[in-house]
Amino acid sequence: MKQTIQPVYNFNAGPSALPSAVLEKAQQELLNFRGTGMSVMELSHRSSTYEEVHNKAITRLKTLFSIPENYEVLFLQGGASLQFSMIPMNFLQQGQKAAYVNTGVWAEKAFAEAKLFGEPYEAASSKESNHCFIPNNLSYNQDDAYIHITSNNTIYGTQWKDFPETGDVPLIADMSSDIMSKTVDISKFAMIYAGAQKNLGPSGVTVVIIRKDMIEKANPNVPTMLKYSTHYKNNSLFNTPPTFGIYMLGEVLGWIEEKGGLQALAKQNEEKAKLIYDAIDESNGFYVGHAEPESRSLMNITFRLADQELEKKFLEEAKQAGFVGINGYRTVGGCRASTYNAVPVEACMALREFMIQFQNNN
Ligand SMILES: Cc1ncc(COP(=O)(O)O)c(C=O)c1O
Repeated sequence: MKQTIQPVYNFNAGPSALPSAVLEKAQQELLNFRGTGMSVMELSHRSSTYEEVHNKAITRLKTLFSIPENYEVLFLQGGASLQFSMIPMNFLQQGQKAAYVNTGVWAEKAFAEAKLFGEPYEAASSKESNHCFIPNNLSYNQDDAYIHITSNNTIYGTQWKDFPETGDVPLIADMSSDIMSKTVDISKFAMIYAGAQKNLGPSGVTVVIIRKDMIEKANPNVPTMLKYSTHYKNNSLFNTPPTFGIYMLGEVLGWIEEKGGLQALAKQNEEKAKLIYDAIDESNGFYVGHAEPESRSLMNITFRLADQELEKKFLEEAKQAGFVGINGYRTVGGCRASTYNAVPVEACMALREFMIQFQNNN
């Protein structure tokens, strides 16, 4: 018997919404992948059919994100969290310093890993204001191994609008929650990394975009699997990669192409976020945004209700109305709507309407 499923509006922070067209295509191809008689998950990662999937995902990423020739794309595992360790392992030697911008929990986790290998220090911090803004005055040294930033702060709903010009000091960005939501000048960065599970596909794949000179100058005394050079030399096929995740990522990139690329997507992301921010701003203080307006994220919209009881009621009623993932991060509370690439405009319109209606009724 066919089940009727209640439609939901998925505002999860990650893993999060995937384009329905991609899910449908994956479903169609699941049992017989391109005439092989098996699913993509059952193919050898050394087969030409899989290699085509793998290389197509890399090429699409390079083209859509306008990645210059002197960079390479790697597909790794271990999430963005493993990058917190791999970065200092590869680029920070004992006694060397690296600058970290503290814009929240994820930035702090990256910082804590770096302490195990060298001497990281804070180039700036928004901690005293509960990370409601992006600091714009960074203090760092020209001989630092690198500067680390978090381009979008998933938990607090803040986002860098302009990236710092760091000259010869390599700039490394955790772009886990806003990668490919807009165009970015890649040449400003020595390395960009992101877990795929917000804008790019299912969890299990970590995308690393790395300038080739960084690979060459990395510390050689690192375990094989944790060296960028291992994955670079082997086209991210040194060991068995997460093949299904890479296939899905390639299909999500195909969907971005069909939507008109990153400029079209950025425009839509702005419109989507505006729908919800306007509901906050026009509520006469009924809803209170967490981020300062100039630092507002277009991916994670964080807000509170003036009264805690009312906030609880809001979250309960939102859940009943089919809105999923509206609760704020477990340690921070409040409300958060994650409006990643694959969240449709209609879902944001529906949330806006719900917010206005709830305010009118309470
Ligand atoms: C900005 C940011 N960095 C890092 C992480 C951790 O990513 P992972 O779970 O892939 O290790 C997250 C997870 O939500 C995140 O939002």
